[in-house]
Amino acid sequence: MAEKIVIASGKGGVGKTSCCVAIGKELARREHSVLLVDGDIGLRSLDVLLGVSERIVYDWGDVIKGNCMKDTALVNAGGIDLLTCPLHFDETYTPESVKEMIMLFDGDYDYILIDAPAGIDTGFELASSAADRALIVSTADRVCVRSASRAGEKLEQAGMRDIRLIINRFRRKSVASRKLLNIDKVIDETMLQLIGVVPEDENITFGKVMERKSQPSYDAFVRIAGRIKKEQIPLTLKF
Ligand SMILES: Nc1ncnc2c1ncn2[C@@H]1O[C@H](COP(=O)(O)OP(=O)(O)OP(=O)(O)O)[C@@H](O)[C@H]1O
Ligand SMILES: [Mg+2]
Repeated sequence: MAEKIVIASGKGGVGKTSCCVAIGKELARREHSVLLVDGDIGLRSLDVLLGVSERIVYDWGDVIKGNCMKDTALVNAGGIDLLTCPLHFDETYTPESVKEMIMLFDGDYDYILIDAPAGIDTGFELASSAADRALIVSTADRVCVRSASRAGEKLEQAGMRDIRLIINRFRRKSVASRKLLNIDKVIDETMLQLIGVVPEDENITFGKVMERKSQPSYDAFVRIAGRIKKEQIPLTLKF
């Protein structure tokens, strides 16, 4: 049975997809089998970050509709499998049908990471339907923090118990100049348990996720992946 983890946020553009790829790559490096499921209907982007857009033929909508066998819809991206999402909404995509489709892959992987769209309505509900754990990504600015808190509340109301917070694009200097909240304040305001803090890393901005050990975010994602595996890793910042 796979650990099924939705990566969500509330506000858009905070780094969900980047975190999904980074954590997926690190879990795969640790020899786990990993499936990334794109949940961002109409705005899919995991394929772009993984560099496999040209190879996509089917998506999970085709699996739900029976247009292809479940494994035919997968694209291998260097040790990680990708199941991309449809380009348009359709009334056949319900939390039940999406959950049933994801469960078809449950026995095939150690981890299934589901990249949620921005927002906390239909797309968010579809993306979180099969998940038993959640990672909420937020930057340390007030607006994102509030939406992360709302996303956490919504998942909690739906009965999810394991919800953890990733603070992304953290810059100490911006905290000092009061452009960003400090880490304690973000934790207080989201009321979520922290799983890791990822620094600003311009390599990510240029599409390079977990490509070099020397890039500023590399170690942060290694530690987050370890904590996902329930390893005891202290939460002290290393940057
Ligand atoms: N730690 C980081 N340092 C620098 N840039 C980052 C970092 N994380 C993400 N980014 C950049 O922020 C932008 C948004 O990232 P990403 O697409 O992962 O966010 P998202 O939450 O998935 O967005 P959406 O809500 O649109 O799906 C991208 O340009 C990405 O390269
Ligand atoms: Mg995204």
